[in-house]
Amino acid sequence: MNYEILNTPFSIGNMIVKNRIAMAPMGLNSGHIDGTIADDEIDYFEERAKGGTGLIIMGCQFLTQELAQGSMEGYLDNTYVIPQLTTLVEAVHRYGTKICAQLSCGTGKNAFPNMLNGKAPVSSSAIPSMFDPNLMCRELTVEEIKTIMKQFSYSAKVLKDAGFDAIEVHGHAGYLIDQFMSEIWNKRTDEYGGSPENRMRFAVEIVQAIREAVGHDMPILFRMAVKHNFEGGRTFEETIPLMQELEKAGVDALDIDSGSYENIDYIFPPAYLGDACMADVCEVARKAVRIPLLNAGNHTPETAVQLIESGNADFVLMGRPLIAEPEMANKILTDRRDEVRPCIRCNDDCIGRILTRLTKISCSVNPATGFEKRFKLEKADKQQHVVVIGGGPGGMEAARTAALMGHKVDLFERE
Ligand SMILES: Cc1cc2nc3c(=O)[nH]c(=O)nc-3n(C[C@H](O)[C@H](O)[C@H](O)COP(=O)(O)O)c2cc1C
Repeated sequence: MNYEILNTPFSIGNMIVKNRIAMAPMGLNSGHIDGTIADDEIDYFEERAKGGTGLIIMGCQFLTQELAQGSMEGYLDNTYVIPQLTTLVEAVHRYGTKICAQLSCGTGKNAFPNMLNGKAPVSSSAIPSMFDPNLMCRELTVEEIKTIMKQFSYSAKVLKDAGFDAIEVHGHAGYLIDQFMSEIWNKRTDEYGGSPENRMRFAVEIVQAIREAVGHDMPILFRMAVKHNFEGGRTFEETIPLMQELEKAGVDALDIDSGSYENIDYIFPPAYLGDACMADVCEVARKAVRIPLLNAGNHTPETAVQLIESGNADFVLMGRPLIAEPEMANKILTDRRDEVRPCIRCNDDCIGRILTRLTKISCSVNPATGFEKRFKLEKADKQQHVVVIGGGPGGMEAARTAALMGHKVDLFERE
């Protein structure tokens, strides 16, 4: 297949991205308790920039530690987080890659009880927690909503000062913003609930608060599900006016997919959902709005080409494929498709480590993920003859690693 179409620049607002391959936002769960990000996170993103990715959307950064509800991502309620974020931005820029930060006011009812330390999650309304139906969420007051808007402004300015190229609002997956946007969760009777216009007020005020803080030069992206894929969730028809409302509010691009935690497979799509499993939302969105579109979900280099060729989206987001293969873009754009290490969509060592062990990200097929500096392969001082017995995954990885380090390798396999 010819992948050249992916190697064309495209703009979001005034941000010019060198190619159509963007990294989907994925938290590493490796942040520090003071809200700063870890050095490992910088090394991780630098590796993906070095690998040719056009745009990196960093995993969600929270407004405050409280709204993070136990997630170990960065939070942005202080200026002391800025220098470390600048180190990240400048590391990525060295490779001509643009970097956007995803901004979140929290998971709301989707907070994980094992991260909550016994606290009730907050939501648009007093609805049951996703993971513990006996635990009721606390409805945010209007005063708290106003405070959240101020926090969006503050955090957005922090991101701008750090040097980020763009900001993405984390409005998908049935998280807090989606809980306001969707009738199934929003039961409010005040100006933030009821009509579609009222349910969009929270999201629109967020966009306005960010815009006020960063000015008109910095693009704002908005991530949302175009349909929820469960009975009672938002449908295509209900979402179209919401997308148009966001475009009117000054959003520069929509990052679209489908699903919510009620159907969590769409948030972390396993193999059986198939390739490009959420690309069906693009055609509908393309007809509804004029701003650029990004789309994620089980994409391969081939579905990426097909999506861009279809004209229904402008960027292909790759999440786990770039966890598994940091050099994806460079490899497919320089005729080395067969060297791409594919993500096997197992979810074990990326999101699985985070959700079940509360520890940081890695990858079943790329153990260097999250440990890029520690596992950096250097040429051995002395070339040796390495014999590996057994050609299973462990044996082959040992053989591959030894060969990359410059050793002569013989691999023996019974079969
Ligand atoms: C470890 C992990 C962390 C994630 N964190 C976020 C996040 O912070 N924000 C977000 O919008 N989506 C998050 N996602 C969802 C991804 O952005 C993406 O939509 C999903 O992985 C499907 O794309 P893929 O098939 O290319 O991996 C996360 C996914 C994974 C696997």
